[in-house]
Amino acid sequence: MVDSFIYHNRTKIYFGNGELSHLHEELAKWGTRVLLVYGGGSIKKNGLYDKIVEEIDKAGLSGYEISGVKPNPEVPLAARGARLCREGGVDLILAAGGGSVIDTAKVIAGSTLYEGSPWDLVVNKVQPEKAVPLITIPTMAATGSEMNDCAVITNPVTHQKYGWSAEVLRPRVSFLCPENTYSVSPFQTACGSADILSHLLEVYLNQEEGFDSIDGYMEAMMRSVIRWAPIAMAEGNHEEARANLMWDSVWAINDLVESGRHVAWSCHGMEHELSAFYDIPHGLGLAILTPAFLRFALREETLPRLCQFAINVMGVKNKGDREKVARKGIKRLTKFLRETLELPAKLSDLSIDETLFERMADNVISWKGQEGVVQGFVPLTKEDIVEIYKACL
Ligand code: NZQ
Ligand code: ZN
Repeated sequence: MVDSFIYHNRTKIYFGNGELSHLHEELAKWGTRVLLVYGGGSIKKNGLYDKIVEEIDKAGLSGYEISGVKPNPEVPLAARGARLCREGGVDLILAAGGGSVIDTAKVIAGSTLYEGSPWDLVVNKVQPEKAVPLITIPTMAATGSEMNDCAVITNPVTHQKYGWSAEVLRPRVSFLCPENTYSVSPFQTACGSADILSHLLEVYLNQEEGFDSIDGYMEAMMRSVIRWAPIAMAEGNHEEARANLMWDSVWAINDLVESGRHVAWSCHGMEHELSAFYDIPHGLGLAILTPAFLRFALREETLPRLCQFAINVMGVKNKGDREKVARKGIKRLTKFLRETLELPAKLSDLSIDETLFERMADNVISWKGQEGVVQGFVPLTKEDIVEIYKACL
């Protein structure tokens, strides 16, 4: 039986190069004092910052800025942003950047009306009733944060990196202009593409009943990422490649594909530990973990799904025994991640050793609601997780 669900995605999307010229119209609808949130400076280098300032002026808004959001963002900067919003009477937040910037803006938006630490909200100690409206301008195809209700943020004191999901965090409007991703480096394009693939795989690899039309859609999106990522890496301003990746990234994780399914986010749970402790790019951690997870998960009951993936996504011929077909699919995916996306293959390539594996595995199994075992495509105990980490060395 498919789980019951409500589907309601309120984010209004402007898609296409040049669509940012409508930003002033949307800004004027949502507030008069804006907080602009951005990262380490890529939007200044590629000219996006100047365009945004022009639109803010055109809308007649005044406001503030918070910059310097770093990859794998942390709570203290968001707490500073929330304070600024409270004290400055900010009624609208505008985020321009990758997932880290958008997630920081979400945490600011969701914690402005709460005087305590935003971390209380992230760990669900307090429920947000309202959030400041958020408009986003994503500059990378990766997390899909621009159309979903989740913010992923780290507590630097405890090294806990959690996803906080709440409907109030979902952006009101997002401007998806492929041209804003032209300057993303080949390496970050590869990391983002590995992240999109992982979002799809986390849902697709499931032994429960689901919608077969949605399975087909996920397969088509995975094929699309595999087709366009290397083109975007080779030619940064390839409009069709950037547009496809941008659209795939939002539909991979905006509630459509996961509705009606229980998703355990097995690889994401393991990866968030890696990026919390070692500050590595999220997509890179997933690219290393996913092949090891798939090899671990290969067994009689998972063969039907893994064969379907091998045949429909990785183009393996449907002949020979099922285990061979499934193994070939995993091999081809691994080759794509390592050779086509040119991503490092091992944790040891990133100077990560087994010192923290036990501690990280403990965190994964005690993460919100896991109760000792991650109940995903295959159940994962603490020992299984340590084994998967070790297989990545
Ligand atoms: O900081 P700037 O200077 O902007 O540079 C960034 C950063 O160094 C750069 N970049 C972004 N757009 C660029 C650009 N460089 C040149 N041109 C552009 N147009 O790329 C670097 C990485 O940025 P980041 O925002 O960290 O990347 P990403 O979008 O992959 O976000 C990763 C974060 O999102 C979380 C991850 O865990 C990680 O913390 N996730 C968020 C999710 C969500 N909200 O739904 C789900 C995901 O699974 C994920 O966990
Ligand atoms: Zn992800």
